[in-house]
Amino acid sequence: MKILILNGPNLNLLGKREPEVYGSKTFQEYFIELEEKYPTIELEYYQSNIEGEIIGKIQEVGFSYDGIVLNAAAYTHTSVGIGDAVKGVETPVIEVHISNTHKREDFRHVSYISSGAKGVILGFGLQSYDLAIQSFL
Ligand code: DQA
Repeated sequence: MKILILNGPNLNLLGKREPEVYGSKTFQEYFIELEEKYPTIELEYYQSNIEGEIIGKIQEVGFSYDGIVLNAAAYTHTSVGIGDAVKGVETPVIEVHISNTHKREDFRHVSYISSGAKGVILGFGLQSYDLAIQSFL
């Protein structure tokens, strides 16, 4: 089974960025934990701060991988293009967020991803990614 974890803008700063919201672990550290927990899954990780690169990656893997775990970060709330890419591919996409976006500012309550996603997991910290992987098993 091949699963891509795809992170959007500013998630390369996890560990340093607003630790009271996103925690103090880097995603690289967390990704190693996931690889150890799921040795039989081919897990791949990609992060980009650029909308078009995220769309390109969804298109690249979206007809061959078994799942995409997508945290589009701020683009969740703005990007029709990423939402359309999610709808346009065959691979099921689980939308994840580290924080509970519904507890935060109003602009974070809108998602252009959810309507095309297989499911949405949010508010469980980094564990949101693990729960998304489990949903594919
Ligand atoms: C986020 C929530 C978004 O609103 C925010 O812009 C992010 C991270 C989360 O994982 O909680 O960058 O997607």
